[in-house]
Amino acid sequence: MENVLPSAKLPLFLCLIAGVCPATNLTGNWLLATPNGDGTLRRTYFRLKQQNGSITGTIRATLHLYTIDKSSGDAKNFTISAGMAILGGERRVTFRGKLAGDELEVSEVTAHGEGAAMTAHRVPEGEGALPARIEPPALHPVRDNGLARTPPMGWNSWNKFANHIDDATVRGIADAMAQNGMREAGYLYVNIDDTWEGERDAQGNIHPNRKFPNMKALADYVHSKRLKLGIYSSPGPNTCEGYEGSYGHEAQDARTYAAWGIDYLKYDWCGAFTIYKDSEMQAVYQKMGDALLASGRDIVYSLCQYGIENVWRWGPKAGGNLWRTGGDISDSWESVSRIGFSVLPLAPYARPGHWNDPDMLEIGNGHMTDTEYRTHMSLWSMLAAPLIAGNDLRKMSASTRDILMNREVIAVDQDPLGLPARRVWQSGEQEVWTRELVNGDTALAVFNRAAGDAKVTLRWADAQLSNTPSNVRNLWCHTDERAIAPVYSAYVPGHGVVLLRVRL
Ligand code: GLA
Repeated sequence: MENVLPSAKLPLFLCLIAGVCPATNLTGNWLLATPNGDGTLRRTYFRLKQQNGSITGTIRATLHLYTIDKSSGDAKNFTISAGMAILGGERRVTFRGKLAGDELEVSEVTAHGEGAAMTAHRVPEGEGALPARIEPPALHPVRDNGLARTPPMGWNSWNKFANHIDDATVRGIADAMAQNGMREAGYLYVNIDDTWEGERDAQGNIHPNRKFPNMKALADYVHSKRLKLGIYSSPGPNTCEGYEGSYGHEAQDARTYAAWGIDYLKYDWCGAFTIYKDSEMQAVYQKMGDALLASGRDIVYSLCQYGIENVWRWGPKAGGNLWRTGGDISDSWESVSRIGFSVLPLAPYARPGHWNDPDMLEIGNGHMTDTEYRTHMSLWSMLAAPLIAGNDLRKMSASTRDILMNREVIAVDQDPLGLPARRVWQSGEQEVWTRELVNGDTALAVFNRAAGDAKVTLRWADAQLSNTPSNVRNLWCHTDERAIAPVYSAYVPGHGVVLLRVRL
């Protein structure tokens, strides 16, 4: 044969006759879909425009919408960097990539280096765009649901299991709570956090993903253990993990939760950052507060928006039973002490039905000492904070059990007066808090925030007690002291606490 084309020219020849030449321009809408492993996809949309030597556009990575403000290279080898304003700061992403035929090969560049190459595909213009804004309702006070007269107690999946939570684990936790004394100690709510969500059907009804085959059956199971089931969503189109949020489906989701038998909703702002301003939070939370009431089921309403906009001032008006006071806790003394010792000024906002939530417990998760975990439990109890355990309740050490199930400490947390502590004395890194209890008793905590042990000596008068007490009960040692001098001395281990119940 004579007219054989040199092989290098073959693609060009084919593309010319077929009219499908490989793209040399990045302009278009590209979808990168990565399986979450539960039947759902994590979707990132690159809406790119390549023109005059630069690449502009947006990157919508589930709940985050970034605007590209730096670019270099061309379709054969490009880098794009994009930012979004969030929480008074900026969040950024950087991707490198190239066009490969009509696919886009991209990899994310982080402080740890360049990630694996992934393939994005062209999708129609408009797909993956943020949904249109729905105006938030006019403000009005949501009727009190009458729930959570004492701080809610239970368990939540996030701190220990994060994305690896499923039906079997939740059932196992419920079994453990019904058997190991947690339920009798007051821990009632079994709360599923993020990553249970699946897709919506044609009628807009939310379905769980395949980790949770039947939410109603799971609720029935948890109820059969005389426990309650909690769930999680966001007022935005996506949750923090990029799953389906309740945006535009608030009333429908509330009805679905009620039909499943859900007893508690944690509603996490995350994905709402792309639609609403911080100043619109009250109205947006109110919308779900109303929807939960209208569902006709008793559902505890937990606001999770990291303490922005002084939520403690309006949380109850939005129907909230509890509201997070700040960012996420972690299993470290730095985190627990920073959070625990800073919530005190918010104490006046807590009252029966409406509580400050310094976040879920880390007790038993393994990165603190038992002394530090006792301080964690004591701080939360003095603050009248919700006690939502965050460890694997199926495998607890004896000391973790003793800390979580110390009935005398729990009684302080659950005191029906609902009056959180105040600081009455401080000297360097040692401080004393007192909390008025229902029968005239006072809970008194001597904290030592220093790393080393300390001897703390205080006069009862320094703790603003009118008399020398007639009985001092040590709530961690379970001992009583009856012959009491006007001056009290305690040895407090580093990062530790002496927690007393004092009777005048
Ligand atoms: C946010 C919340 C956490 C947890 C995660 C789940 O970070 O503050 O408590 O719910 O989202 O994605």
